[in-house]
Amino acid sequence: MSNQKQYTRAEVEAQNTQNATLFVIHNKVYNVTPFLDEHPGGHEVLVGVGGTDASEDFDDIGHSIDARDIMKKYLVGEIVESERVEKAKKIVKWDDVKNDGGSGFLSIWRIPLIAAVVASLVYLYFT
Ligand code: HEM
Repeated sequence: MSNQKQYTRAEVEAQNTQNATLFVIHNKVYNVTPFLDEHPGGHEVLVGVGGTDASEDFDDIGHSIDARDIMKKYLVGEIVESERVEKAKKIVKWDDVKNDGGSGFLSIWRIPLIAAVVASLVYLYFT
């Protein structure tokens, strides 16, 4: 059990006010109030995701190692174990892969199909 302060998602939402901006990134809670005016992406985006889970927004930008370093300064706690979520990124990627390549039948059978055609041609050629 870690000794970080435990938050429920409802608590993060409740503590995000006009005077304080808190959000969740990958099950960690950040209070970025002192950072708002320093954020290179502007304070509006941070205020905009205040009280919510900003993991996807944060990842979508492709924040640098520097940014990930800076954020440690604003870490105030973590989400209680029962409300943590796995990284959504991996699931989305798998969906992307599954939905890629058009028709399901062709995308699954493309390689064995090509192999079968090649094998038949080789067979016909040599017999
Ligand atoms: C504690 C959390 C955060 C920290 C420390 C942080 C830090 C930074 C830093 C250092 C940059 C400059 C570029 C880089 O080094 O990657 C940046 C850019 C940016 N950030 Fe954040 N950021 C945080 C959260 C967020 C969130 C939650 C969002 C979106 C809702 C966001 C949106 C952006 C955008 C739009 C840019 C500008 C990208 C560009 O100009 O190309 N950031 N951030």
